[in-house]
Parts: sequence; C-alpha cells; structure tokens
Amino acid sequence: MKASVAKLLVLAFAAALLFAGGKSAVADPIIVKFSHVVSPDAPKGKAALLFKQLAEKYTNGKVTVEVYPNSSLYKDKEELEALQLGSVQLLAPSISKFGPLGVKEFDVFDLPFLMTDDSHARQMMASPMIGELNKKLEDKGVEPLAYWDNGAHVYTANVPLIVPDDFRGLKMRIQGSKVLDAVARQLGAIPQIIAFGELYQSLQTGVVDGEDNVPSNIWTQKFYDVQKHLTVSNHGRLTYSLITNKKFWDGLPADVRSGLDRAVKESTQFFNETAAKDNADALVQIKATGRVQMHVLTETEKQAWVTKLMPVHKDMQGRFGKDFIERVYKESGFVPPQS
Ligand code: LMR
Repeated sequence: MKASVAKLLVLAFAAALLFAGGKSAVADPIIVKFSHVVSPDAPKGKAALLFKQLAEKYTNGKVTVEVYPNSSLYKDKEELEALQLGSVQLLAPSISKFGPLGVKEFDVFDLPFLMTDDSHARQMMASPMIGELNKKLEDKGVEPLAYWDNGAHVYTANVPLIVPDDFRGLKMRIQGSKVLDAVARQLGAIPQIIAFGELYQSLQTGVVDGEDNVPSNIWTQKFYDVQKHLTVSNHGRLTYSLITNKKFWDGLPADVRSGLDRAVKESTQFFNETAAKDNADALVQIKATGRVQMHVLTETEKQAWVTKLMPVHKDMQGRFGKDFIERVYKESGFVPPQS
C-alpha cells in the first residue's frame, strides 16, 4: 500500500514540475527567419519553401522556418546587416553583394565571361579556393552553408544591345560589385546600384534604362513589361550563397543541426537540378509574351563583346592581384582569350 502512495506522490510532484507556471515541458520551437528578395516562383523562392518543409520535418518540429520572399522583410543591403546582427537566420544572396561584408574577393566571379560556361562555374564553386573564401566569411560572423548556381546573365534595355557601343550613355542597374561597376563603365554605360526590390519601378520610371539578370528573375518580376529588348549575352553569372549567422548556427543542438544539414543538402540538390530548366523556360515564356524583342548574340557579335570587356580582367589585377586572378582561371578551367 505504502509503495503505491509513494508512487502517486512522485507522479503528482513530476506533473506539477512539468506544468509549473502553465508551461508545457515541450520546448518552444527554434524560429529560423529566411529572408530573400525574389519571387516565391523563382528558383530561390521555391528552394526556400522546400528548405522550410524539410527543416521542419527533419527536426521533428523543433524548428519553425518563416520564409519572407520579395524583400518583404529586408532589402538587398539591409538583409546582410540583419544576418550579422542575428535578426534573421538565413539568406541566399548573390555573391556579387558580399562587398558590404568586407569580403571583396567574391566580386572576382563577376569578371566578364569568366563563369559563362556551366561546367567552369560548377568546377569553380566546388574548388578548394572557395573553402579559403568561406573562412573569410566566417571571420565576419557569417557561415556559408551551400552555393546555388542560378545560371548566366542576359541584358535587358529599352534599346537593342547588339554591339558594345549600344551601351554608350545608358544608365544601367548593377548589383553592388566593383567588378560589375567596371564592366558597365568599360561599355560606356553609367552604372547605378539599385536594390533588386526597387528595380521594377526604377525601370518603369526611367531611373535606369536597363539591367542584367537571369531569365527566371526577368520573368517572375515581369521586367518584360517595362523593357523592350533582351539580349542573350551570357556575359556573367548569378551564384547564390546560402548563409547563416555563425553564432546562431554553432549554438544549435546537435540533433537540430543534423536535421538542418540534411535540409540544406536536399534543397541545394533541388535548386541545382531545377534552376537551369526554369531559366530556359523563362526565356521561352518571355518571348511568347511578344512584349520583348529578343536577340541571341552570334559568335561574331559575342567575340566583339569579349574583346571590348577583357581589359576589365587586367584592370582588376590592381584590386585582386594577378596571382589571385590567375588562380581563379586555373581552378575554374577558364582560358582567357589571347589578346
Ligand atoms: C539581383 O539583385 O539582380 C539578384 O541578385 C537578385 C536575386 O537574388 O536573384
């Protein structure tokens, strides 16, 4: 008899502990805010939603991911500051925007025609050199988790862009990268850094005459409604880095980390398998609207662009050092055209 009373008392005491202060014993979920600047229908938007599903599944609900698309939480530059402050836990920005983090080396991948070839781009982002650059991000409190390849850039404008001289005097929107600034100036254009979330209105009101981007962004942001011409130039590349706040990431419990690592891996695989198709489909869809005059550079026309733009590679030796650039060539398999 005594044993059963004692047992009841222990159970009663344990129940009291569990619900002391009206709180349940199940801890509140860890909130992961994932902010990005593109449409939910763009490759990055879809990969973010998949990451949410997988992260919540593989952590058995210990994590809740809140996705904020289309600059709804933070715009380009703001989001990097918010990540470093720990106000947001996940971003996947273009690596052309890492300058404000104080890691200027990532601009090097904006060198014209360096990463045009898909195999060169994939080889580069998987090279040991990226591991060294990742360390520089970690020193700034940013943990790179993966790279998402969103393919080659094309140009849009309200005039045809066939030969380099067509850019002369045009106000062209660029991302915040010193190399992209140099590319625009080499073409005789006037570069203007504008946040992606403000680009549609800037094109619509004539603040800028044109921009360069991947077709899936041009499609999902409806830039074809405010631009008359599109040139398939494949002169640059859009590579994202899925990044988190290092202090937040290192402080996660081991079981949560392994669940999130699995979600990162599978959403990265999804992104790299679907972005190329989405960009190819976007070009077809943009053409079908009939609102844009499309032009694919011929080999001869492309050579004229390469000849015009290769001096930027040489000019940038002053910023990155000749050896660093030559190492990027070697790691990516890029062979600079003989001038
Ligand atoms: C841009 O700013 O043009 C792109 O980097 C936006 C994005 O995240 O795709």
